[in-house]
Amino acid sequence: MAFRVLALPICGSLLVVVIVLAIVVPLLFTSAASQCKHPPTIFIFGDSNSNTGGLVVGLGFPINLLNGQTFFHRSTGRLSDGRLVIDFLCDLKTNFLNPYLDLLEGSNFTNGENFAIVGSSTLPKFDPFSLNIQVMQFVRYKARTLELVLAGSTNMISEERFKNALYMIDIGQNYLSAAFAANLSDLQLTKRLKFWIHNTGPLGCLPQKLVLIEEKDLDPHGCILRYNNAAKLFIEGLLETCHKLRSELTDATIVYVDIYSIKYDLIANSSKYGNFSNPLMMCCGYGGPPYNYDRNITCSEPGHEDGIHYTKAANTIVVSKVLSKTYSSPGTAFDFFCQ
Ligand SMILES: *[C@@H]1O[C@H](CO)[C@@H](O)[C@H](O)[C@H]1NC(C)=O
Ligand SMILES: *[C@@H]1O[C@H](CO)[C@@H](O)[C@H](O)[C@H]1NC(C)=O
Ligand SMILES: *[C@@H]1O[C@H](CO)[C@@H](O)[C@H](O)[C@H]1NC(C)=O
Ligand SMILES: *[C@@H]1O[C@H](CO)[C@@H](O)[C@H](O)[C@H]1NC(C)=O
Ligand SMILES: *[C@@H]1O[C@H](CO)[C@@H](O)[C@H](O)[C@H]1NC(C)=O
Repeated sequence: MAFRVLALPICGSLLVVVIVLAIVVPLLFTSAASQCKHPPTIFIFGDSNSNTGGLVVGLGFPINLLNGQTFFHRSTGRLSDGRLVIDFLCDLKTNFLNPYLDLLEGSNFTNGENFAIVGSSTLPKFDPFSLNIQVMQFVRYKARTLELVLAGSTNMISEERFKNALYMIDIGQNYLSAAFAANLSDLQLTKRLKFWIHNTGPLGCLPQKLVLIEEKDLDPHGCILRYNNAAKLFIEGLLETCHKLRSELTDATIVYVDIYSIKYDLIANSSKYGNFSNPLMMCCGYGGPPYNYDRNITCSEPGHEDGIHYTKAANTIVVSKVLSKTYSSPGTAFDFFCQ
């Protein structure tokens, strides 16, 4: 099983931006939080972008301390030196989401569950934790939870809250599959359902891809055209699926967030975001410019990434843009999902 590991290389030199955002983002969060009487119940499905430790608990796959060290000060099984976008969103309104499979973290079933696991994709359907499996886990989890609620359990999510929960899917990066339509009907959608859908990032801008691909046809920002075109095709398919979903679930709220544009802007306009001289270069890599990436050597320096995954600094910028509504259609505020 291939565990694709991903990150946008935003180097320590982005310090200026990090500091500014560290101030701006919490303010933004605080003012938003004051309007939120009850935190949303969140279920998330997806891959390493949202994995909060599922791979470690699911398969015992070790993830070392460089991950997690800037915020958690220990490895939590996340593939980032700090919080992920989902963590920022949860921190804003609720508690961090534990991996569904985790027995040891004193599983708190009250605010939702995280079904996302590193390496997951939509196809093939029966890889250990493909979206399909995550949905099946969810279906079983929901059925069992409702049984326990009926039997008198009070610390579980009620049927009403399942109906009002926020369902998030962040997947597609591992395999650009136009067949995204991972039978959402398996979720037994009813009207009133809420979806927060992220499209996929510019695959052709990842150092790991830039190094591995021999014949490169590069766009003006130095990213592999063919890979980015594939990402765009995937996005077209996803958009079509969203349109279809909207026409089938006329009362559902389906917010689509253009992560591709957010991440591509970060690369194309890197200078706008601070001292960020080479956005295609890995932070702690080897071999120097242009990509500072050597597939035979893994990073030993703390805090930075693996040529595929975004660092905390990048995730901080991404999340502020996700929350800005500028990249969302419709432009629904995250607050909307408070109950
Ligand atoms: C679970 O989360 C709820 C809601 O945030 C909180 O009130 C409760 O204390 C938590 N329970 C445990 C065991 O952590
Ligand atoms: C998707 O769901 C529909 C309706 O529940 C069902 O008829 C169909 O067979 C499912 N398709 C797959 C590929 O599971
Ligand atoms: C770069 O920034 C400019 C000005 O904000 C914007 O018009 C342009 O679309 C951005 N480029 C990309 C690729 O996002
Ligand atoms: C910007 O980053 C480069 C490379 O990391 C470094 O040499 C330079 O001193 C930095 N400039 C500023 C103003 O921080
Ligand atoms: C990496 O290792 C492979 C196989 O051991 C070798 O063929 C290749 O030349 C190495 N690449 C570099 C950049 O050292």
